[in-house]
This record gives sequence, structure tokens and C-alpha cells, in this order.
Amino acid sequence: MDITPSPADPAGIGPLELVEYPHPALLRRTSPLVSIDDALCAAVDRMFEIMYEAVGVGLAANQVGLPYRLFIVNLEANPESGEELVFINPTLSRPRGTAVQEEGCLSLPGLRMDVRRPEKVVLDAWTLDGEQVRLDLDGFLARVVQHEFDHLEGRLFTDRLPEAASLEARRALDSMRDVFLGRQSRGELPVDADIHTRLAALEAERCAPPGGRA
Ligand code: NI
Repeated sequence: MDITPSPADPAGIGPLELVEYPHPALLRRTSPLVSIDDALCAAVDRMFEIMYEAVGVGLAANQVGLPYRLFIVNLEANPESGEELVFINPTLSRPRGTAVQEEGCLSLPGLRMDVRRPEKVVLDAWTLDGEQVRLDLDGFLARVVQHEFDHLEGRLFTDRLPEAASLEARRALDSMRDVFLGRQSRGELPVDADIHTRLAALEAERCAPPGGRA
């Protein structure tokens, strides 16, 4: 897979904002990027702003309505400290151990629950400069990276709960859905068909065509 920095600035991405469950971008697998352009770099800058405003430690592109395999992390949740990490087209391998820790998600406001995940994992990804990185992760960074990677697969931490906790989460998700559908019916949010059209247009701009090499 090649990622070629491109001097051209194709279609702008436009204003970005955090999207909440059940926005269709969250529930759909993202697509690998085949080019990195100025508009995408600007979008990543904006993602950091959005993440810091919400005091988050990680943010996946589809949490701001971009259908790309890209997420950002700063374990300090603070622009003045910590390291700003950008991972493009990530893959995870070699899961080892098990750890349980409480998680929350900027797209599931108010919900926090214990989630079981591998304790260690190897991450392969590209940086915004097009450099390849391989990191053997454990601790909090391993947890955050796995949570963000799940987003790119269209999965939320509520998909990883044992049955009793899952029923409890279901009630919260159902009320978030009611709020979302209400906002759509009042015209405050686009309808699903328009959201899918925009996601497809963004994919066409920076991802390989379906069935093509990526
Ligand atoms: Ni999340």
C-alpha cells in the first residue's frame, strides 16, 4: 500500500463537528486512505481541537463524520502536554493478556462501563508524513488505540460488553437514538440518506474505488 503526499488540494472537507450515536458514520466500517492532501491535514488539526474541547484522549475520523481509517491520540487530553499521535490505515496484531478498565466515548456522552480487552497489542500504521510505524503497546495507550481502532471498524465499546452490562447500555443507547431521530426530524441534522451520500463522496476523493487495491 502506498500513501503519497499530494501537493494538490482536492475537494475541501468543510466544517467538522463531533457526531454522536447513532450517526451512520459511527456504525459503518471506514475506508483506507490512498492519498494525504492539505484538506486532510487541516481536518486532522481540527480533530485535535475538537478532541481537546471535549477533553478526550483519542478521536477517530468517523467520530467527526469522515469515513477514513485514521485516528488521533493524546493521552494527556491537553494541547500543552503529552504527545500528539496520528495513525493512518492502522492494523492491530499479536493481542496478549487481558485487562478490564472503565471506558467512555465522546460519541456516547454520559456512558461509562468496564470493558475487557487484550492488555498488549502491536500497532502498525502510517503517520501524517507518510512514514510507517510499528509500536508494541501496553497500558493505557494499548487501551485507547484498541478503542479507536474499533471505531474505524464501525464498532463501539458497547459492542464488547457482557450480557448484563449490554442490557444496561441498551437503555442509554435507545435514549440517544431518540434524541438523534428527534434532531433529524426537526431538520437540525441531515437525514441518513444525505449523510451516506456525503460519506461516499469523501471516500471517492481519498480512498481506492471499491474492489480496487488499497
Ligand atoms: Ni470512542
